[in-house]
Amino acid sequence: KELVFSGVQPTGNLHLGNYLGALQKFVALQDSHECIYCVVDLHSLTATLVHEDLAEQTRSITAAFLAAGIDPKKHIVFNQSQVMQHAELAWIFNCVARIGWMNRMTQFKDKAGKDRENASLGLLAYPSLMAADILVYRATHVPVGDDQKQHLELTRDIAQKFNNDFSSRIADLCYGVEMDVGEEKVNGFFPLTEPLIDGPVTRVMSLRDGSKKMSKSDPSDLSRINLTDDADAISKKIKKAKTDPEALPSEEAGLEGRPEALNLVGIYAALSGKTRADVLADFGGRQFSEFKPALADLAVDKLSPIATEMRRISADPGYIDSVLREGSGRAREKAEATMKMVREIIGLIGD
Ligand code: TYM
Repeated sequence: KELVFSGVQPTGNLHLGNYLGALQKFVALQDSHECIYCVVDLHSLTATLVHEDLAEQTRSITAAFLAAGIDPKKHIVFNQSQVMQHAELAWIFNCVARIGWMNRMTQFKDKAGKDRENASLGLLAYPSLMAADILVYRATHVPVGDDQKQHLELTRDIAQKFNNDFSSRIADLCYGVEMDVGEEKVNGFFPLTEPLIDGPVTRVMSLRDGSKKMSKSDPSDLSRINLTDDADAISKKIKKAKTDPEALPSEEAGLEGRPEALNLVGIYAALSGKTRADVLADFGGRQFSEFKPALADLAVDKLSPIATEMRRISADPGYIDSVLREGSGRAREKAEATMKMVREIIGLIGD
């Protein structure tokens, strides 16, 4: 049975990249799938343990989930730390995964910088907790932006190694689920999760530099559109976005070597639910001076209602906490069902 899981860290404001890479897909998957969406507060400790505004940030991401249209009655919305089974499974995965696998993660290399010896052990083990988030529900599909691809490959490696290492126990206990591995069908405990990284823009780039991804940590606020930006800020940032002097091409091949144009066309496509080819069919031959105002109108149209709704929901932190509490209760039951089996497979004594 298909099950969707994804997570967002409570660090900084959400931006258009988070929206198009993640939230918009979370919302779209609700009609066809059972979904679990998590604010991964434990992950945010890997960068800085002391966050004065951690609780506030956690509520703000939750408000963004709800404002974007996730229904917390039909699906599960919760914060990671309330379901301790994530941390428990992460420990087991720390013993499954190899240090070499973690050392190869580009995100670890980027975040740890030159002084790797001084990075937190949590930062190194980050992907192991991420694998636990997903696999503690035995989730099959994970919608994310392109930057999480490597972490999801590692999640599959961990699942596969666990399945191999314990294959006879899994078979004896009849806990296997049938899954496709390439051409073959195998029986394993953890599914080999599929990333869902599709759509016209899987990596939204900075508005100031088409070679860098849009990110919460970029010092320039002009580089990103925040979900909380008002109409004026959105229009100003799009107007100031870096472009080249050429008109838009009429076909996709013409975007090659033009990263800023590719990015803006991709954003337009994703926000309007069209393909890049459709957008170019409409705007090919036009200058950015015509395209940018159309993009700004579209972005304001799609994003301002979310900002307004986020403000309305954020005014009631008691309601947000009740959503998280209720979601955590439902998540915990599912996670505990998996952990009972995991403990038994491994041979840990429990009830
Ligand atoms: P985080 O909090 O950095 O980002 C949340 C989601 O936003 C996507 N994203 C982008 N997509 C397109 N363009 C961009 N410029 C852009 N920037 C961010 C991310 O790909 C992500 O989908 N490790 C994860 C959180 C996590 C998780 C999980 C995700 C923890 N456990 C389990 C999935 C499943 C992260 O740091 O995302």
